[in-house]
Amino acid sequence: NWTNSAIIDEQVAAIREQVGDKRVLCALSGGVDSSVAAALVHRAVGDQLTCVFVDHGLLRAGEAEQVEKDYAQLTGIDVRTVDVSEQFLTALKGVTDPEEKRKIIGREFIRTFEAAARGLAEEHGIDFLVQGTLYPDVVESGGGTGTANIKSHHNVGGLPDDLQFALVEPLRTLFKDEVRAIGLELGLPEAMIWRHPFPGPGLGIRIVGEVTKERLDLLKAADAIARAELTAAGLDRSVWQFPVVLLADVRSVGVQGDGRTYGHPIVLRPVSSEDAMTADWSRLPYELLAKISTRITNEVADVNRVVLDVTSKPPGTIEWE
Ligand code: XMP
Repeated sequence: NWTNSAIIDEQVAAIREQVGDKRVLCALSGGVDSSVAAALVHRAVGDQLTCVFVDHGLLRAGEAEQVEKDYAQLTGIDVRTVDVSEQFLTALKGVTDPEEKRKIIGREFIRTFEAAARGLAEEHGIDFLVQGTLYPDVVESGGGTGTANIKSHHNVGGLPDDLQFALVEPLRTLFKDEVRAIGLELGLPEAMIWRHPFPGPGLGIRIVGEVTKERLDLLKAADAIARAELTAAGLDRSVWQFPVVLLADVRSVGVQGDGRTYGHPIVLRPVSSEDAMTADWSRLPYELLAKISTRITNEVADVNRVVLDVTSKPPGTIEWE
């Protein structure tokens, strides 16, 4: 596609001009934006780029492996993984307030990233930091909680003075659909390109209640079923996001086999949207919803009820926390 390759050429030239022969650092999140931004920078300056992937344990099933192994292998990018899932769980112990969770996850993320950046700066110097900022992020800046947290989560402003880098923002003028088109043009896997947007605090804000290892495992299992069935139905691209939420502090009565159960509800929150600023609940086929519900209640222990969120945004937000 002429337009996409023109955008790529333009960005690659701009990155080369900006970066010269200096070293660049990028934090990979597993999402489309950072993956495409890093791939663009890699195309422009090759092994002057090093990526850090902070594995906080709050990604969905299989996603950390996808970044660490598949993406790194495919692109040839030097990806350094830091596994801090235990540390995050400890920091989140006893915390139920959503904003408190965001603060803690953001703080731990920055601490981890800072330590990795410091190590790399000592190893070979770092001059630039890549950010996958999109045009809507720029416009919405200072707006909703999502943006504020994207900032506190990934922004260079969270780093100490002796670790200040100039920013490389190759996606700053682009919308999501353009970023996806460019990613495909760059040869990144479809599954990664069409991955739905995912919040920085990850599954941490999709467990209403305290985040524990057991609850995370439960939510990951339910989420994997919902995603697999959506994909099998060929409907990945018809929804913008499909949060699966665990109401960890809620129990309701159910019956399974001969026994009464007292388990947790799982909420399905499929939404359609253009840019996440407004959204509508997706009218997924009943057959698909039935299949997801049956599988989750059959396969995920301690879940005895699946409910569908039919709220648009506004008044509801996309996430439950
Ligand atoms: P809401 O829930 O506000 O979400 O309708 C709008 C978009 O932002 C994402 N989101 C976040 N992203 N850090 C992020 O990086 C956050 O704290 C955060 N909260 C929400 C959400 O998934 C949706 O795409």
